[in-house]
Amino acid sequence: MGLYQQFIEQLKGSLKDKTLVKLSLGNYKGQEEGLKNLYVKLVEIKREIKLSFVYRYQTRDITKNYSLRDGFDVLVESVHYKGFRSVTLRTLHESLEMQMNKKGEWMGKVVKAEQATEIQLSHDKKKERKIADTQQSYLQDLRLTDEKGQVFKNAQDKWKQINHYIEILSTPLSALPADKPLQIVDMGAGKGYLTFALYDYLTHKLQRDVQVHGVEFRKDLVDLCNQIAERAHFDKLRFEEGTIEDYVPQEKIDVLIALHACDTATDDAIYQGIQQEAELIVVAPCCHKQVRRELEQHKAPNQLQFMTQYGIFLERHAEMLTDSIRALILNYYGYETKVMQFISDQHTPKNVMIVASKKVVNQGQQELILSQLQELKRYFGLGYQHLERLCGLENA
Ligand SMILES: C[S@@+](CC[C@H](N)C(=O)[O-])C[C@H]1O[C@@H](n2cnc3c(N)ncnc32)[C@H](O)[C@@H]1O
Repeated sequence: MGLYQQFIEQLKGSLKDKTLVKLSLGNYKGQEEGLKNLYVKLVEIKREIKLSFVYRYQTRDITKNYSLRDGFDVLVESVHYKGFRSVTLRTLHESLEMQMNKKGEWMGKVVKAEQATEIQLSHDKKKERKIADTQQSYLQDLRLTDEKGQVFKNAQDKWKQINHYIEILSTPLSALPADKPLQIVDMGAGKGYLTFALYDYLTHKLQRDVQVHGVEFRKDLVDLCNQIAERAHFDKLRFEEGTIEDYVPQEKIDVLIALHACDTATDDAIYQGIQQEAELIVVAPCCHKQVRRELEQHKAPNQLQFMTQYGIFLERHAEMLTDSIRALILNYYGYETKVMQFISDQHTPKNVMIVASKKVVNQGQQELILSQLQELKRYFGLGYQHLERLCGLENA
């Protein structure tokens, strides 16, 4: 039996008797851009054994779960046609490694497993939450937890969102220079859920010296948040009444945050961050009316017209265009940008987050970005984008 056939038999057997430990596919030479690896393992979801596929791309992971039968078919196709040229299959009994050579033949070996490995089926592993101490007064004051530190049932989504937010930021935050206190501004802080959580994480978990300012134009929220901060003894957290566009920082901003600030308020916030050369700029845009209006008024006759005739697609298109332009402008100023899903789209469609970390400005890159911007605007019939205008790049 050839090696490939051995692989198929071993895979089939390991699914039948649930002895699959892990299957890793690599050395991808197929058509899908950015795809690097595929990792597959058994998981138990709602008492059913399934196959969990993690597609690892250059900048993200995508997870899909399949029934054993469908998963087997997808796997065979992935190995046979999809362009993975390296396969490692580990079962409780054997390991099989094979690579495709230049002639398209599979070469490799089968090794007996030396030690029995335990198969970890648990899918819904208890997550380590970033906000570990749930008995803090701010969590009670924000009606997230009761006096015993139990998260209220109706606050579970918010709780997940807060922890996920801190999880996303934990890596870029820990990369910030540790030799001085950090100045952080959260623009459009609202009721302050995320502002409090960030302060808590930075001061208690990372033990950083920080000054956090929340900026908010609703006085009632500012007063409430200041009271909660005082009760929690969060001495270096304060909230100010004011608008994002008129905010004048007292000190140089290291981290600028604006989550769900309406329409062009996100641009005003990014602009402040760029001007301040903030190390980290984090925004979760809200609505995208400015670009949508532009598109409605001046829509250029392009190949996407068949799509943007539908209101909902025009809306999504305006979102993607706006946030791509924001990311591009951040790149122009030397920021490395990541765009990711912030909250599950089951809860809100406003779930994109842009995380931009300051690196160096590359002049060659800047010229390219300016011409990309002009080309984008011409193609879509966009007169201007607010951040572009603020930065003076409109006619650059
Ligand atoms: C949707 S809430 C988001 C609150 C918080 N950032 C969050 O994500 O949980 C937006 C908040 O930003 C405030 N806001 C919107 N535009 C603003 C502006 N231009 N200046 C200051 N605050 C603003 C609103 O009053 C509101 O409280």
